[in-house]
Amino acid sequence: MSAARRAEQAFRERFGTAPEGVWAAPGRVNVIGEHTDYNGGYVLPVALASTTRAAVARRDDGLLSLASVQHPDEDLRVEVAGLAPGHPAGWAAYPAGVVHDLRDRAAGGLSILVDGEVPSGAGLSSSAALSCAVALALRDLLAPHLSAADLVDVARRAENDFAGAPTGILDQSAALLCTAGHALFLDTRDRSGAQVPFDLAAAGLALLVIDSGTTHDHAAGGYGDRRRECEAAAARLGVGLLREIDDVAALEPLADGTPEGDVLHRRARHVVTEDARVLEVVGALRGDGDPRAIGPVLTAGHASLRDDFEVSLPLLDGIVEAAVAAGAHGARMVGGGFGGSVIALVEADAADAVTAAVGTRFERAGHPQPRTFVTVPSAGARRLA
Ligand code: GLA
Repeated sequence: MSAARRAEQAFRERFGTAPEGVWAAPGRVNVIGEHTDYNGGYVLPVALASTTRAAVARRDDGLLSLASVQHPDEDLRVEVAGLAPGHPAGWAAYPAGVVHDLRDRAAGGLSILVDGEVPSGAGLSSSAALSCAVALALRDLLAPHLSAADLVDVARRAENDFAGAPTGILDQSAALLCTAGHALFLDTRDRSGAQVPFDLAAAGLALLVIDSGTTHDHAAGGYGDRRRECEAAAARLGVGLLREIDDVAALEPLADGTPEGDVLHRRARHVVTEDARVLEVVGALRGDGDPRAIGPVLTAGHASLRDDFEVSLPLLDGIVEAAVAAGAHGARMVGGGFGGSVIALVEADAADAVTAAVGTRFERAGHPQPRTFVTVPSAGARRLA
C-alpha cells in the first residue's frame, strides 16, 4: 500500500471521514555547513527518501484534533484559540505550532493525522519534516498566497517560538526546497539558493547514514549555548553575523588570553572555516572533477565540530574514525550534535564493508548496533493525494 493510502486509511479510522489531502515532507542530511545557518552562512543539505506524511481536513468547530500513527496513545484535541507556546508539548507541538502561526486562517479548526518514518532525535530533522508537511497542507487548504520562503518561516517559527527550539532555517529549507538528485546550496543570509547536481550513484559512490542511536533535543541546553557564543563572538568583533568574516586571521582579537576568549575564538573559527568548506564542496561538485574530492573536506568539518565547536560525542568520533579507516572517502557527524547521525561518503560497493566496520566498533564498545542506510538525494515537500 502506498504511503498516501496508509495515511488516508489511518485518518479514516481516527476521524471517521476522508481527509482532504495527504502531504509529505522529507528528513534531511546536511552534506556540509553545520551551525552556519544562524550565523547567516552557507548550508548544503539533501532531502532523505524518508518522509513524514500529514493527512488533513478542515473542521468547523474551532478544534485542532491531532493523531499520530507513531504515538497511538497520544491523540489530542484542543481549541485553535487556546493554542499557546508550550501547549501542547511533545511531538504535537510541531503541527500545533504551524496551526498557531496561521491561526487567523485556521480558526475553523483542523483534523490532522501524521505518519512517517524519519527517526526522531537522530539528527535527521524529523521535526522539520513534520512541521513542513503540515505547513504545506495548510498553504494548499487555507493560505494559497504563501510562498515556499514564507512556509520556511512558518515552520521555523513553529519550531522556535512554539516548540522552544532556537534553530536556524537549515532544516525547514531542506524539507521544503530540496529536489531529487541535487543538494541545495543555500545562502542563509539573503536566502538565495541553487540546486547543485549530486548524482553519487553515477560516480559509483553512496552516501551512508549511520544513526548512532544517541538522541538529542535542541530545545535543551547545548544548542542554545552555541548560538549565544556565536552571537557574543560576533558582537566582540563588531559584526552583525559571523558570516561577515571570511578570514580566520580576523578572529585573532577574540583570543585575548582568557578562557572565555579562547572558547569564543574556537567557536567562531568553526563557523568561518565551515562556510569556506561549503564553498569548497560546492566548487568541487560543480566542476567536472571527481566528487570523491569532497571526502576529506567532510572529515575536516567533523574535526572542526569536534575540536572547535565541541558538539560531537566520543561515539560519533568513533563512527567517523571507523568509517574512514574502513575506506570511506570522508565522514562527519550531521545536524546540531550531542548525538544523532554520521554520514560517510563511500564507494557504492564498499557500503557493506564500512557498515560492518562501524558495527564492529559498536560491538566492542558495548553499544547496540546502529541503524545504517544508504540515502539518495530525494524530493522536497509535496502533495501526495
Ligand atoms: C539543527 C538546527 C539547524 C542547524 C543545525 C546545525 O539541525 O535545527 O537549524 O543549526 O542544527 O547545522
